[in-house]
Amino acid sequence: MAYAKLTSESELPHAGEAKEFEFEGRTICVANVNGTIRAMDNVCLHMGGPLGQGYIEGDKIVCPWHGWSYDAETGALDDDPQSKVTTYPIKIENGAVMIEL
Ligand code: FES
Repeated sequence: MAYAKLTSESELPHAGEAKEFEFEGRTICVANVNGTIRAMDNVCLHMGGPLGQGYIEGDKIVCPWHGWSYDAETGALDDDPQSKVTTYPIKIENGAVMIEL
């Protein structure tokens, strides 16, 4: 699938923060990990907590409900790296944030 516009660059979360975006019928978690923008599914593998309402710790995104943490780049669960949330390629082009599902 090709890249499509998710949002504007000005809507992105600040460094160290995450945010939720609705896109094509699903919710995407976008995280700003020390200036690097990452995108992944918003649904925690534990009980479905909203990762986009979580927080950043180092290069991890931490679920706000019970603290499961995921590698922001690969989506791998810290406690069980075989388990992953889906991550998506994301890039910024001329002020637009483009994502590929
Ligand atoms: S739902 Fe995410 S840690 Fe429990």
